Amino acid sequence: MADKLSTEPYKGVRDFYPEDHAFLTYFFATSRRTLERAGYVEYGASILEPAELYKAKGAENEEIVSEQTYTFTDRGGREVTLRPEMTPTVARMVAARRRSMGYPLRLFSLPNVFRYERPQRGRLREHFQLNVDIFGSTSLYADAEIVRIAHDLMKALGATDGDFVIKVGSRAYVNALIEELGLAADATKRFVTLLDRRAKMSHEEFEGALAELGVPLERLSPDQAPSAITRMITGFADAGITNIVWDPGIVRGFAYYTGMVFEVFDTDSSNSRSLFGGGRYDDLTKLFDSEPLPGVGFGMGDVTLRDFLETHGLLPNYRPPTHLYIAIPAPELAGAAETLASALRAQDINVAIDFGEKKLAEQIKTAAKHRIPYLIVLGEDELASGHVKLRDLATGEERELAREEVAEALKR
Ligand code: HAM
Repeated sequence: MADKLSTEPYKGVRDFYPEDHAFLTYFFATSRRTLERAGYVEYGASILEPAELYKAKGAENEEIVSEQTYTFTDRGGREVTLRPEMTPTVARMVAARRRSMGYPLRLFSLPNVFRYERPQRGRLREHFQLNVDIFGSTSLYADAEIVRIAHDLMKALGATDGDFVIKVGSRAYVNALIEELGLAADATKRFVTLLDRRAKMSHEEFEGALAELGVPLERLSPDQAPSAITRMITGFADAGITNIVWDPGIVRGFAYYTGMVFEVFDTDSSNSRSLFGGGRYDDLTKLFDSEPLPGVGFGMGDVTLRDFLETHGLLPNYRPPTHLYIAIPAPELAGAAETLASALRAQDINVAIDFGEKKLAEQIKTAAKHRIPYLIVLGEDELASGHVKLRDLATGEERELAREEVAEALKR
């Protein structure tokens, strides 16, 4: 006999039981509301992409491609990758319809993406990632709009300005610095990696490594911000938003960023990792045709977001979609329960019935386990009188109502 199968999901991925799924739904709904309000439209694509999309020059992120993709060969001998991010996909889609699309083009999506990482807090092998991007504009206002949307989203999710900080850097600034200091290729790589890991190391460690590379610390000081970014940050400050700051240490891991980059951090030290981020990439569609099409955007993952909301007590309480449970003293009453349920559903009430296979007390426990707020016991007396008792399962309170009054009472 073979061993029994494990009920564990595959390493580093999650099952979404209803309460977890409700969180995803909340994240998606809040994202959709915020993005549609700002004039963005939703798109989607397959999880599968040709592997070459991540290997092409300019799209490559060495760590992601060589160590973190799920890549396999299909039955037709094609190399296939489970998308590790959405940016190459959306660049491909936009490039394919480059001429017929209207610009500026504002797009968002809510894909799941896969990375072969060592699972740990905030890092899993599958996550859902809101992607927000503007194509076809090099305006500073496009950069500012993307950062403002990141800020708006945090507010829509219940955060206050004191809960998080948006650190804005510039790849262009760092690249110019590298050139000015004449850093060789491997020193450049060490420098960028050092900047990217800064938040994870002590100040002394960081300064030491910086000195080794011969980069003066003052070149990373706040007064060195490029004028465009200073203007953007001043604009936010004028609008009363003070948690958006310049930080030249923000570079982000991907090779495709070319301009403004940003990263959102929790201000609570117990959750110090970056929550999400993005930036400007002006060359990505070049992979597909000759003219470059500028883009700027960000990706926000559900895992780090959930940790943030938990840390700040902002996770919404779970409420099932079902409003009412109908319990019955005997299985023969299932038909009558279904008739009442149908009438209520026609009035927009979400109703589930019990089939009467267990004692009433057990049926009531079932409703409570499902966290359904209201219950009706439909017995012979109720059927004869046309009246039912609507029980609030949280308080135990009961109200006697005519069947026709139930829907109205539940809507109030
Ligand atoms: P990224 O920083 O690699 O950027 O990912 C964006 C966000 O996705 C992260 O900040 C984090 O919230 C989440 N995330 C990434 N990897 C994991 C993981 N292994 N487990 C859990 N969450 C994760 C990008 O992917 C860019 N393509 C974003 C972008 C869009 N830039 C411009 N447009």
